[in-house]
Amino acid sequence: MVTIFGRAKINLTLDILGLREDGYHEIATVMQSLALADTLTLTQQEEGITLRVDLPGLEADERNLAHRAADLVMSECGVRGGVHIDITKRIPVAAGLAGGSADAAATLRGMNELYALNLSDEELCRLGAKLGSDIPFSIMGGTVLATGRGEIMQHLADFPATHVVLAKPPVAVSTPWAYRSYDAHPAEVHPDNAAFLEALARGDRARCAELICNVLEPVTETTHPVIGDYRARMRAHGALCAMMSGSGPTVFGLFAEEGAAAEAAAAFQEETDADVHLTHTVGRYGV
Ligand code: C5P
Repeated sequence: MVTIFGRAKINLTLDILGLREDGYHEIATVMQSLALADTLTLTQQEEGITLRVDLPGLEADERNLAHRAADLVMSECGVRGGVHIDITKRIPVAAGLAGGSADAAATLRGMNELYALNLSDEELCRLGAKLGSDIPFSIMGGTVLATGRGEIMQHLADFPATHVVLAKPPVAVSTPWAYRSYDAHPAEVHPDNAAFLEALARGDRARCAELICNVLEPVTETTHPVIGDYRARMRAHGALCAMMSGSGPTVFGLFAEEGAAAEAAAAFQEETDADVHLTHTVGRYGV
């Protein structure tokens, strides 16, 4: 039996460079792991894949990315035997926080350990990329510049330790919808990734905070104006900066002080319908 964390992520920058022939978008995004995590416990069983998720309404069958990840490892590596996967969900679902990818990544790592498969990180990422663009990042974690469709990774210096408040409004956003809407309304303002990487290399959190930018934010916000409201609230409660993560709808705020972050989280809980989480950034090895 093995127990593995599947960590949430936020995008500190997200740029779209063009539409690819395979239908995906060429992107350049700085991704950051958070302490907020689902817990997966994998147990060997004689055959087949079974899944239990503690969140009612979340599919616990072949449609679940963790199930598909286990299936992929078993067929690619000729695993004889099965697995039971128990998932404790903490990452909000369909939120722009890569919760499904985190579970798939944890399953790939867990299967590697459970069945002593000796797959390298690169091999795990190659398998992960078959299931979703964010999964290789979820396997590696830390602070990463992801390019291609999100699966090509360059490790960066860890983002300076920062407290993070997540506020997910009670609306659902589909990632394919957000990317399609972007094609109809491309962004006028793009992130300056080169400047961001330079500031990050200097450990200059204040400058990084000025440079955060997500080209999908205006698209999702047009349909869900609550995102603009949350961003303004986050800043009013003392965030260094606030922005939507991924294709949304979660808005994150970065805070230098834990006390200020806790106050902002409490205020969101009191004043809005948001699903609120108080967490912090983590480096590549989960610390
Ligand atoms: O790779 P993943 O399955 O997570 O992507 C979900 C959807 O998001 C894709 O089907 C595509 O519509 C969109 N997407 C995209 N370009 C990317 C990543 C995702 O168009 N780089």
